[in-house]
Amino acid sequence: MIKQLLSYAKKYRFHAIMSPLCIIFEVLIEVTIPLLMSVIVDCGIQGQSLTQKESFVADILISLGFGNKEGVDLIIATGGLMLGLACISLLCGASAAYFASKAGMGFGAELRKGIFNKVQSFSFSNVDKFSTGSIITRMTTDVNMMQMAFMMALRMVIRSPLMFIMAISMAFSINKKLSLVFICIAPVMFALILIIGSAAHKRFTRMFKKYDKFNSSIQENLIAARVVKAFVRAKHEKEKFSISNNELRDASIFAEKLIILNGPIMTVSIYLCIILVLWIGAQLILGGSMLLGDLMSFVTYIQQIFMSLMIISMIFVLSVMAKASMTRISEVLSEEPHINDNNSNDSLTVEDGSIEFRNVCFKYSKDAENNVLKDINLTINSGETIGILGGTGSAKTSFVQLIPRLYDVTEGQVLVGGRDVREYSLEHLRNSVSMVLQTNLLFSGTIEENLRWGNENATMEQIRNAAKIAQADEFVMSFPDGYNTDLGQGGVNVSGGQKQRLCIARAILKEPKVLILDDSTSAVDTATDGKIREGMKNLLPDTTKIIIAQRINSIQHADKIVVLDDGKINDIGTHDELLQRNEIYKEVYVSQQESKMEQ
Ligand SMILES: Nc1ncnc2c1ncn2[C@@H]1O[C@H](COP(=O)(O)OP(=O)(O)OP(=O)(O)O)[C@@H](O)[C@H]1O
Ligand SMILES: [Mg+2]
Repeated sequence: MIKQLLSYAKKYRFHAIMSPLCIIFEVLIEVTIPLLMSVIVDCGIQGQSLTQKESFVADILISLGFGNKEGVDLIIATGGLMLGLACISLLCGASAAYFASKAGMGFGAELRKGIFNKVQSFSFSNVDKFSTGSIITRMTTDVNMMQMAFMMALRMVIRSPLMFIMAISMAFSINKKLSLVFICIAPVMFALILIIGSAAHKRFTRMFKKYDKFNSSIQENLIAARVVKAFVRAKHEKEKFSISNNELRDASIFAEKLIILNGPIMTVSIYLCIILVLWIGAQLILGGSMLLGDLMSFVTYIQQIFMSLMIISMIFVLSVMAKASMTRISEVLSEEPHINDNNSNDSLTVEDGSIEFRNVCFKYSKDAENNVLKDINLTINSGETIGILGGTGSAKTSFVQLIPRLYDVTEGQVLVGGRDVREYSLEHLRNSVSMVLQTNLLFSGTIEENLRWGNENATMEQIRNAAKIAQADEFVMSFPDGYNTDLGQGGVNVSGGQKQRLCIARAILKEPKVLILDDSTSAVDTATDGKIREGMKNLLPDTTKIIIAQRINSIQHADKIVVLDDGKINDIGTHDELLQRNEIYKEVYVSQQESKMEQ
């Protein structure tokens, strides 16, 4: 999992290496500075002889021509060296932060790109599995978390252990007895922080689940804002929002409550340690077995040791939080698209619009008990117009979705142009089988841009011809900006019927071999519906047209009408044949005639 995610940082390898390198220098300087400080202090105290280490530093400085062993010159030279080193350390620290930020942000961007691309490859059934809200959380909150953890790791994973080891060895070399103080306290503190971190993990996993729920609820509400208003459900929605918002707050507090204990534990340990060291150290100085400068640098080393311990524990906590995010991101990245091109032949194109269903059974998920479609056998010739009629939930949509492979059959075969749909590449298949979905969407942008989804390279004439067949040209031209009219998000600027016609035009522009309209003229008046059918019949004679409709009017002139009932083909025939022999068809026809008479 870690390997899989780290592959997204590959592009920023240079930055990821440079950051720890700068940090190594920074740490080396930081642990040298207290030593220089002790030179200054001990050199400044009259009549005090320097320790071995201090003399070593002083000798180097003197050999470089700075001052003499006991003079003020040496103090100034050491101070100057300290200042110089501090500046270099600052530069190293700043460069490390720069490289880490660049690598971290780049890693985050690559990760988001990876998830987005993966989601683009998802089939409908993959999308059914992850809710949209959950994918959004994974792309935002979880990626941010990973980004932060990565940045932190680059800056701290080397720094803290290195600082810890260096500071401990320096402290030891100053005074072994005094070192016993932190050797006793530090492990207790570290263990406490580890226990807290591991307990927090479960709580953070729970918090992210709440995040999913929260995002899903907001997203659903925003998409359906109009429905919410129309049904005056705002109050109910507010309550629903409050509930998930409160749940998220409680889960976050529950998790953070543990983590914040780290601070006090840390502070108490550091100060306890410093007090003990100062107390014991003072006695050692009085007894003459330790120098003041040494004690001062010892205290600085203790602070460095505890600081690095705290950061190690923070890395631990962060990695605990990041692990939850990592799993969630990896779930998306590892999800195999249920429908893929693996067994297809790239050069194979759809020859004609003939379709055959052979013993097809279908269900949406493997675990579902019953098939949605049962034993479907049907042959459609190229260029025919097929009507599909059936009650709500009779599986009309499920039936046609198998043709462009939006879902794969559970059993049996669907053939287009004489070949199993799985033999074609998805691109070739879907370019030849154009489907206007029952719940359709337009995107923000102009009408022309939206229609070009059907064919990017279409000429304006082709676009207008497609729109004319779909009876959309007239109303588009009546807009002041014509085809340049901006549609707004989700196509809010056009009416329901206009939107349907634009969607049909978009599908026609593909010049497909098979055109499927899933209840696509439900919001269009009967006369316009008739004109669309007429246009398709005359201008797209070779295209196989499959029309799902609630109105018998829309399909009565079809070459064949398929009556679906509860996932099974109940009957196939022409309008006249079905009217004579099929009960369901007759019933629908009579009820529609009656309602027409009433009008
Ligand atoms: N994505 C899905 N996951 C699981 N079950 C589904 C899914 N889509 C539809 N179903 C189920 O499959 C059955 C057939 O649905 P389908 O949408 O094919 O009916 P339909 O005939 O198109 O209905 P309508 O006239 O309302 O559009 C229904 O029982 C529905 O609950
Ligand atoms: Mg449907």
